[in-house]
Amino acid sequence: MLGSDKFGHIKLAPDDAILQTAIAFRNDSHTDKVNLGVGAYRTDEGKPLLFRAVKEAEKQILADPATNKEYLGIDGHLKFNKLAQELLLGESSSAVLEKRVASVQTISGTGSLRIGAEFLSMFFNPSCVLISRPTWGNHITIFERARIPVKYYPYWNPKTKGVDIEGMINALNDAPEKSIVLLHACAHNPTGVDPTPDQWERIADVMARKDLLPYFDSAYQGFATGSIERDAFAIRMFISRGFQCVISQSFAKNMGLYGERIGALHIVCRTSEIADKVLSQLKIVIRPMYSNPPMHGALIAAKVLEDPALKNIWLSELEQVSQRIIQMRRVLLEELVRIETPGDWTHITSQIGMFSFTGLSPAQCENMIKKWHCYMLTNGRISMAGINSRNYQHVARAIKDSLQIREKL
Ligand SMILES: Cc1ncc(COP(=O)(O)O)c(C=O)c1O
Repeated sequence: MLGSDKFGHIKLAPDDAILQTAIAFRNDSHTDKVNLGVGAYRTDEGKPLLFRAVKEAEKQILADPATNKEYLGIDGHLKFNKLAQELLLGESSSAVLEKRVASVQTISGTGSLRIGAEFLSMFFNPSCVLISRPTWGNHITIFERARIPVKYYPYWNPKTKGVDIEGMINALNDAPEKSIVLLHACAHNPTGVDPTPDQWERIADVMARKDLLPYFDSAYQGFATGSIERDAFAIRMFISRGFQCVISQSFAKNMGLYGERIGALHIVCRTSEIADKVLSQLKIVIRPMYSNPPMHGALIAAKVLEDPALKNIWLSELEQVSQRIIQMRRVLLEELVRIETPGDWTHITSQIGMFSFTGLSPAQCENMIKKWHCYMLTNGRISMAGINSRNYQHVARAIKDSLQIREKL
């Protein structure tokens, strides 16, 4: 080889924990193996789901002679941006009507968070971002990469297996000036517990008093409760109270468009003039990163949202998806009770969204994986989408057995 060694000093990076779980699951030949690590919806047959509305939208797009593969603008597909904005904020939102929202299409939720964090780093000069402990692991790295110091607010109370609302309020109260607060809009990942409407109001009270900037991550709208409106409650309430805010939106879960990488970033401003300037700068952030976003996912999402018949099909599919998950929570809880599993497991049904934080210790999770072939994260998170009518009894037995591994829950 020519010249000096240019890359030999590079150390092997550790695998992503979620990816590692997926590989271990794939390599296991046991017939009763269960994938509780998966972050994507699975049908009762354990298969990925292609939404009927999405399939139909795709068919129409391909049949349309006007369809082409030209570049989109830096900010993406404009009709998609508008429809995505309305889905999230509501068509009658004052922010939408007053054109106070700067919206850009992004590379799904992750890309949106990365652009949002970069924008805030460049234009808001934040002292830090406060992130829930625990959170989706990528949040931390995304903000660190954007040179924003990361701090935490307590979120999970292991005793009540619910939101540590007092801990959270205290941390927000102590937040430095010009802090960003990252909030999961609904279906908190990994805990599956959300603040109640009253608790959201308390969060808004302290944030208003301290003049903190809310940053909502909305990766599960409609997926959590089956209702688009209910899952947007917190965002809409903050905006109706007059907050300026940043929102990252993903269509990965709620349209099953994981691999299409379709999402949006919305920045709610005080005036439409400010929103125009914000939009112009967002384009400057995006241009040197990837120039402009991909088109196919935007065409699909826009078609589903704009066509009333397709939208209705989608909404009813979304309802079915969330209901299957709720049903799996119920059958798992009933089975845990039936086989007399020690402890209170009602958090399985009170938590919402794709994930449940079981409260199992790392050693107990190891037992789930090694002895029972139930693949999950060692922080105790299981994906309810991995549970179905054929494996819930196996999962319940695995949990009961793992509790014998003595360690503090
Ligand atoms: C809380 C949260 N935010 C954002 C994302 C981003 O997902 P994507 O980039 O696939 O839209 C995820 C995905 O699992 C998530 O759980």
